[in-house]
Amino acid sequence: MKNVILTGDRPTGNLHIGHYVGSISNRLKLQEKGGYDKFYIMIADTQALTDNADKVDKVKNNIIQVAIDYLSAGIDPEKVNIFIQSQVPELSEITMYFMNLVSVARLNRNPTIKEEIKQRGFSNSMPVGFMCYPISQAADILAFDANIIPVGEDQEPMLEQAREIARSFNSTYGEKVLVEPKSVLPETKNQARLVGLDGKLKMSKSAGNCIYLKDEPEVIKQKVMSAYTDPNHIKVSDPGQVKGNVVFEYLEAFATEESFKKYLPEYKNLDELKAHYKKGGLGDVKIKMFLNNVLQELLAPIRERRKELEKNVDKIYNMLFENGKKARQHAAKTLERMKNAMGIDYTKFLK
Ligand code: TRP
Repeated sequence: MKNVILTGDRPTGNLHIGHYVGSISNRLKLQEKGGYDKFYIMIADTQALTDNADKVDKVKNNIIQVAIDYLSAGIDPEKVNIFIQSQVPELSEITMYFMNLVSVARLNRNPTIKEEIKQRGFSNSMPVGFMCYPISQAADILAFDANIIPVGEDQEPMLEQAREIARSFNSTYGEKVLVEPKSVLPETKNQARLVGLDGKLKMSKSAGNCIYLKDEPEVIKQKVMSAYTDPNHIKVSDPGQVKGNVVFEYLEAFATEESFKKYLPEYKNLDELKAHYKKGGLGDVKIKMFLNNVLQELLAPIRERRKELEKNVDKIYNMLFENGKKARQHAAKTLERMKNAMGIDYTKFLK
């Protein structure tokens, strides 16, 4: 079997460090490991429109932003096909055939959708397109015969739905037409859901608690300084809590032994730093300065690359469009195979 990796993001805002630990770093690892036949990253504009029908400009403008974020974070366009979802119209046709294989009751059981409906306050106003996006996402995946899907755990219900559709299609119309995909989840809890600067919600644009990959050095520093720690750790000598402490959560995700050697050599590793904080005698400013150094080091080269890329936006659009054509060929082949299996390839009536 061929190995096809596929993943994607909705273009509704710039990528932040939560995306970096949660998905980008995973993708970079897969890219470096190699050994795949195809690697697609989809900028899911069609999906983004399912709850942004009146905010087309936001979605449209963020396509290039997300593309620049990928490239500046190190996604290599020679190794990965980054393309725009709406440039592969076959996906919509495939979605139509899949819709007949899924019940409304099944869609209503999807826990991620349930959560999103709550967040968005849809009661009777839920767009049909939004409700059906898990089916469209199954088309995104199955159209490319993708078997490896690196995503966060909130996407697992979408993968389950895609597998069910593949099985249902195969058992209804012909074995082995569609490939069942598997997710590759982040390894640690922190990678899965990085908490926001406020310590309450996960990092997200809508919660306004993000550090963006494109943030300038002063902004990063100011955000780090404002991060939630332990409200009862008032004096330096007070014992402090590391659980729920945003600075420690971020250090857990980003600090390496190298970082300690470079910026905080009095401690060997995070365990030592935590022990001191818990005992008392370690101030917030010190741990925040350390975190600031770690994040500045991570984000400086990304920001530099972004500045270069921003000078040549036309070239990036060109790349996206060329990639879209290649992706389209792949999806068209799958669609043809599906129609053959379903027996709706009417060209045979032409003699
Ligand atoms: N639902 C994903 C998100 O919100 C984006 C997405 C669209 C996706 N199509 C996909 C992810 C296919 C993986 C595979 O981030």
